[in-house]
Amino acid sequence: MLPAVKDYRDLARRRLSRFAFDYLEGGAEDGRAMARNLASWGQVMLKPRAMVDVSDIDAGVELFGRQQALPMLVGPTGLNGLYWPRAEEALARAAHAIGVPFVLSTASTSLIEDVRAATSGDLWLQLYVQQDRRIAESMMARAQAAGFGALMLTVDTMVHGKRDHDIRNGFRMPVPWSARLLADLLAHPRWCLRMLRQGGSPQLVNLARSSGMAANLAQQAAAMSRQMDMALTWDDLAWVRRHWRGPVIVKGLLTVEDALQAQHAGADGIVISNHGGRQLDAAPSPLEQLPRIADALHGKMHVFVDGGVRRGGDIAKALALGACAVVLGRAPLYGLAARGPRGAAEVLAILRTEFEITLRLLGAVHARSLDASWVA
Ligand code: FNR
Repeated sequence: MLPAVKDYRDLARRRLSRFAFDYLEGGAEDGRAMARNLASWGQVMLKPRAMVDVSDIDAGVELFGRQQALPMLVGPTGLNGLYWPRAEEALARAAHAIGVPFVLSTASTSLIEDVRAATSGDLWLQLYVQQDRRIAESMMARAQAAGFGALMLTVDTMVHGKRDHDIRNGFRMPVPWSARLLADLLAHPRWCLRMLRQGGSPQLVNLARSSGMAANLAQQAAAMSRQMDMALTWDDLAWVRRHWRGPVIVKGLLTVEDALQAQHAGADGIVISNHGGRQLDAAPSPLEQLPRIADALHGKMHVFVDGGVRRGGDIAKALALGACAVVLGRAPLYGLAARGPRGAAEVLAILRTEFEITLRLLGAVHARSLDASWVA
């Protein structure tokens, strides 16, 4: 095992082709939102309490009535097949092994049904809504049939943020051949071989199945971005509710006003998120918004936060500032890209160890006892 999440990031950078790593890592435009996300955790200090018996600690939390071993989710990320074959199955297994839910993206490269077959753990579905609502309805029906527990409706992706690195690298789906790309691939033969073994470019198979599209990546990618429903409003939460039995979480909010709207519209939870800094580059960091939003909601909804979680201690900070759990984006992907399924599991184990160390050093016996009184 490597010492820290950062080391898996460095290894992933060496192991992945340039365009794949840039897609994983990059933020929108000048990368300011992403930089703010990462910096925000360093602004928070915690006050330790001395002489507390911390021989037994409880790092778990209850989310929607189910006990989870840690206050974190392996969050939704699309196109994971770029890093490792059968990536979502591997992430779901790693999440289950450590005792937390895995959230499968609409833009996944494995089928809902295949991820279910790979694990008996808690699975949640992340939903993007296309103009043709039958696609989302089919995806919700398939996920319900597969026993997925909660739905995470992402609302910050009406269009894709402008990611200059992808334009510079000529990264499109399917990947267009060029001399530059060829040089990139030749420099990463092991990655290339893995991609070839899985049959080339990963496919957006879930979207394809629910929309009845052929296995044509160009069509799938076009459908994904061009056909996103830009007319989605709070009224549509009632439509989601009609098609989903379990908890509904709205992902991608950054203001008190929107959090209250979500509550009013009947959501069970929210994720305060700027999509890892990949969408609006002028967005504030979710962690900075967390205390005000959590205050305004008075504990009536589950409040998750994401963006830049790279240390177990970050989880303690999020809880102290009012979150019920954090959502992981890039961290487990670094592990997966660096060392495959083993690497993803190692990254989650590092975060657990660091979180437990932080709880003990703080003198906090129960994760759920963390609140504003711990913030310096
Ligand atoms: C994402 N994210 C994302 N979110 C979502 O709701 N659906 C998706 O398909 C994706 N896809 C995706 C791909 C990649 C490569 C990344 C890095 C992120 C956003 C993700 O769920 C989460 O909000 C951020 O990644 C959190 O920030 P960190 O932890 O990556 O800094």
